[in-house]
Amino acid sequence: MGKIVFFDTTLRDGEQAPGFSMKIEEKLQLAKQLEKLGVDVIEAGFAISSDGDFESIKLIAKHIKKSSVCSLARANKLDIDRAYEALKDAKKPRIHIFIATSDLHLKYKLSKTREEALEIAVESVAYAKTFFNDIEFSCEDATRSDKEFLVKIIEAVINAGAKTINLPDTVGYTTPDEIFEMVSYVIKNVPNVKKAKISVHNHNDLGLAVANSLAAIRAGATQIECTINGIGERAGNAALEEVVMIMNVRSDIYSDFKHNINTKEIYRSSKLLSTITGVNVQPNKAIVGKNAFAHESGIHQAGMLKNRKTYEIMTPESVGIAESTMVLGKHSGRNALSNRLGTLGYKLSKDELDECFIKFKLLADKKKEVFDEDLEVIILGQLGKVQIFYELDYIGFNSGTDTIPTVTMKLKKDDGTILSDSNIGDGPIDAAFKTIERIVGIDSKLKSYKLASITPGKDAQGDVTVSVEFNKCGYNTGGKGFSTDILIASVEAYLSALNSFLRGVERVKPTNGSL
Ligand code: KIV
Ligand code: ZN
Repeated sequence: MGKIVFFDTTLRDGEQAPGFSMKIEEKLQLAKQLEKLGVDVIEAGFAISSDGDFESIKLIAKHIKKSSVCSLARANKLDIDRAYEALKDAKKPRIHIFIATSDLHLKYKLSKTREEALEIAVESVAYAKTFFNDIEFSCEDATRSDKEFLVKIIEAVINAGAKTINLPDTVGYTTPDEIFEMVSYVIKNVPNVKKAKISVHNHNDLGLAVANSLAAIRAGATQIECTINGIGERAGNAALEEVVMIMNVRSDIYSDFKHNINTKEIYRSSKLLSTITGVNVQPNKAIVGKNAFAHESGIHQAGMLKNRKTYEIMTPESVGIAESTMVLGKHSGRNALSNRLGTLGYKLSKDELDECFIKFKLLADKKKEVFDEDLEVIILGQLGKVQIFYELDYIGFNSGTDTIPTVTMKLKKDDGTILSDSNIGDGPIDAAFKTIERIVGIDSKLKSYKLASITPGKDAQGDVTVSVEFNKCGYNTGGKGFSTDILIASVEAYLSALNSFLRGVERVKPTNGSL
């Protein structure tokens, strides 16, 4: 079985993309996670590019023992010396030297002839050989380079000591058929090719990076360069998680290849990267997107409940996600509703379920997603148990550049009485929450507040989610509110948390009407 080496460049090609820069300690944390994930080579940075990159490579080199640690270097002595300085304490150091080989890059970027580039490449590899055993050489823009020139330069750098030859599709221009042909051509025509591994490094400008990597494997490439979540220059690089899971899920096609990746660490790696960079993956991203294992359509949910293979080609557990999610929304069916109610501990008769389903559908038409708390309100209301202790009757507020935000509010109690008061705050929302506290006579601490817009445009529905600790009880109660007015949405969210809290108090400790 051919072993495919996974070379991860999240910390170099990925980090150099706009919006993805990381601090040194974050890079180390991610490198440790990449090692856990089982990547064979971690490209930790480009040592000469900045002191920050140099220090990060040095630190990562000190801590990482199982994976090789690599620095990028241009084909010159200064770059190679700096890479050596950064990597000299690494257990398994690798240098990655590159020079452009396409006529376009040679003429406009480097002002060099092919012969000059070949000479520089050979000299650099030979120089690096005095420090490094593991040398990778990249022909930048290989997919737009002359094939015969590629063969010449590859043969020469292998003779000089390169152990891995990387053929980057630097601008994401190639197609699966073309890269298959290029890799096959190189393997067939470079006389000493057996002394090195052939690698590819595909950019995703046309959305083909993963497909091209797989085509290269089938043509004989044994190293894939990739990044977590597919981050990287412009449209990014081939996504590691996609290449690996294609190899696993379609083991019928890729049965001749094995790899070291522990797929159960995929989701954790993806999440860590998003948390560090603050950039979330799109919800429909393959393997790690929020919707990758979420099912909403009634037909799909019914199929999943009978046999998950009906709509899942891999298990969420296989990539480290705890479970599939059945999103309850307007497309969901009775089966999914009944199943979720069962999980929440409610066993309903057929008639009760029918009634609940009608209410659920009415709510689902208004909301994007129906949460467990929404179901509780439906079900407890239906079973006659839900109690709304306080609801909003009136709110007015006064605010402005020279005015202290002040809210006046009336709340209707469950016995019909109207209670009113007003208060000031740092802003209208703070003033509103303080007014509720004063009316109800409860102590509360807002633990989190999230405002999202449900619909686009100026008339967007505001969706407010709060988490509140009442009366220093040690746990937080969540609430949600919706309105085109964000102050009202905030008050509704706060009251929904308060009512849930009061219901909770009542369940464990019957009250005499007072708090
Ligand atoms: O895309 C590219 O060509 C690169 C090289 C430096 C390998 O990132
Ligand atoms: Zn690149």
